[in-house]
Amino acid sequence: MGRRAAGTDISSLAVFLTETKTSVFSPAELRRIQTWAKRYIPKINLHAPAARQGDWEDSGYHRNIDGRKTWAVRKMLQVVLNAVSQFDGLREQKLVRCALLRTAQWALDCREDVPPVREVRARFMVAVNEMVEGARQFAKAAREGGCTNADSLCLLRSAVGVEDEPRITELGHPALILTSPPYPGVHVLYHRWQVLGRRETPAPFWIAGTLDGAGASYYTFGDRKNVPRYYEHAREAFASVARVSSRKTVVAQMVAFSEPDWQLPAYLEVMHDCGFIEQKHPALANEQDGRVWRSVPNRKWYADKGGATSGSKEVVLFHKIR
Ligand SMILES: C[S@@+](CC[C@H](N)C(=O)[O-])C[C@H]1O[C@@H](n2cnc3c(N)ncnc32)[C@H](O)[C@@H]1O
Repeated sequence: MGRRAAGTDISSLAVFLTETKTSVFSPAELRRIQTWAKRYIPKINLHAPAARQGDWEDSGYHRNIDGRKTWAVRKMLQVVLNAVSQFDGLREQKLVRCALLRTAQWALDCREDVPPVREVRARFMVAVNEMVEGARQFAKAAREGGCTNADSLCLLRSAVGVEDEPRITELGHPALILTSPPYPGVHVLYHRWQVLGRRETPAPFWIAGTLDGAGASYYTFGDRKNVPRYYEHAREAFASVARVSSRKTVVAQMVAFSEPDWQLPAYLEVMHDCGFIEQKHPALANEQDGRVWRSVPNRKWYADKGGATSGSKEVVLFHKIR
């Protein structure tokens, strides 16, 4: 739509994904990736020696993916990551890493068994093709929307204090702020995969080639058991969001609650205290409270375990400055 976009996240993994998926790739870049995939993926050879990824290994990024059942997938990832450096272009490398990340998540995260490597390899091919096709459609839409330089600005930083970030403020007041903050009391691990049950691995950072910053509470507005801390952090973040907003700015967000009866009103109070007023859109609403709700079938299994928990229902909220 010809809009300029800027975003922030404190997770290097989230920034990596967003940066890659919002890059406007040229047809030549995408062709090179597909040609490489067609030639390279069927020939991935697990028996050839793979150069060690020493620093990553030594820093623990292979934790829990080097056992009897997982080593073959780990080795395939290592072989592909070594090959990714064959691309001169960093953007091409990142798109391939992105496809590998999706493939490895499918193979390792939140499942009880590990699929054979031939299936992982086939899945990788599908992932590359899907990502290339997605990137092609995105680039086409951007060009048709008249964007000459549509790459978005993705910053590894907190939303807290964003009003003092010149790279954001120089863009003027945003027309739209779109966010999905951490969810109060809902246990979602953004920075780990859970392998063969509950064994956590930081491998996604290794695959993305970005460094992990910190533990779970860092990414979730505080420990999930410390809900008051959650609201404090949300208040700091939305106070900053308010400072970059004008009266025309729409803040649209998606958030889920483990106990919506009291957590949603407390959340709305935070928004109110930061100067926002909720906007309801009856034409969009699908529930009696006048809001838009949706259930999330793919919520990770640890939120699913207790059955249909409220954590698997998300609400979309709209706000403007009062
Ligand atoms: C519910 S996830 C949303 C992820 C993504 N928007 C999506 O829909 O898949 C919450 C995100 O907020 C990020 N986050 C947590 N605290 C933050 C802060 N203070 N500033 C910016 N991002 C933060 C986390 O790293 C995580 O990526």
